[in-house]
Amino acid sequence: MFEQLDVAPPDKILALIDLYRADTRANKVDLGVGVYRDRDGNTPVMRAVRKAEERLLNTQDTKTYLGLAGDVGFNAAMSGLVFGNSVEMSRVRVAQAPGGSGALRLIGELLHRTRPGATIWVSRPTWPNHIPTMRGAGLQVAEYAYFDAASGTVDFEAMLIDLAKAKAGDIVLLHGCCHNPTGANLTITQWQRVAGLLAERGLLPFVDIAYQGFGDGLEADAEGLRIVAAKVPEMVVASSCSKNFAVYRDRVGAAMVLARNVAQADVAISHMLAAARALYSMPPDHGAAAVRIVLDDAALRSDWRAELEDMRQRMLRLRVAFADALRRQSNSDRFDFIAEHRGMFSRLGLTEAQINRLRDEHAVYMVGDSRINVAGLPEDRLDDLAKAIVSVL
Ligand code: LMR
Repeated sequence: MFEQLDVAPPDKILALIDLYRADTRANKVDLGVGVYRDRDGNTPVMRAVRKAEERLLNTQDTKTYLGLAGDVGFNAAMSGLVFGNSVEMSRVRVAQAPGGSGALRLIGELLHRTRPGATIWVSRPTWPNHIPTMRGAGLQVAEYAYFDAASGTVDFEAMLIDLAKAKAGDIVLLHGCCHNPTGANLTITQWQRVAGLLAERGLLPFVDIAYQGFGDGLEADAEGLRIVAAKVPEMVVASSCSKNFAVYRDRVGAAMVLARNVAQADVAISHMLAAARALYSMPPDHGAAAVRIVLDDAALRSDWRAELEDMRQRMLRLRVAFADALRRQSNSDRFDFIAEHRGMFSRLGLTEAQINRLRDEHAVYMVGDSRINVAGLPEDRLDDLAKAIVSVL
């Protein structure tokens, strides 16, 4: 049966987890997979999430099926977190999904059902898994220019030129905040221009918001998305709790539709749920239930926000300190953009050969496009790391 197949290429980000684990060098540095780390290199369960889990354990008296949409309280809380007051909630429908990736795929399935083989425009570069997820749903993928590697900033004019090539009914995938992999984000003025362009040209916005709270703050990170939501008749959103609730392995995400009206919202959700039934039936409950408990309880919610804010501030401090260390070690401002970027990632602009040397000679692990996870930076060894990077340039 399987003699027809060659081995599938490994996922470039996830493959690093195993490579790093197998490395026995004591000084190894993991800047690979996008997982938040504290100064000891740990990824703790967040305080409010742990309390919510205890509550869940003590009060849950059944594990019978919840239904295709999952935890409806979670869904309502998530749509509030993402949309705020920007839209009339009667036009919004939400399906709990297995992580942000599950939400992306579910929305892809919905889009393919309504417009088979539609074209989705993704940023160049984008999170590598966007492409197989959308193709897997049957969509065609096109790219719009986004990142100017030389300056480490968004090439906004090039982005607009490419988006002007999209046809009415095409879909445009935007990173809500904390662009992965570049760390370079749209300004509010740029979001306004993009929102205008999408509305004028009849393009459907698809916002992937996987790092809300990791960039400029929980509300600020949703501002671009909300500007778009207030401007367009319809849009779709994939949201993830993996990072901002640190429930990575529990697979907690939400697929959202903002429709023109209540009737179309009902039709859209019916297709998302039918697609879910065919893919995995129902989403896992535990993590979403814990997130719902946190968001519905004023004390837990405020403690969660405080801990999330501490995580965000730590990443910002690391950005500034690492840019300083690189400036000292390289005697140049080549890496200053790291302090300007937001979110978990920046791209250093190294070649594959330089990345391999960093791994082989210095036990420094980063993704093959030179994306680093800022939260993985070793706080007390930033100059050593900067020196290692400069030594391979
Ligand atoms: C990442 O980009 O590193 C994370 O989103 C983890 C993943 O699934 O790729």
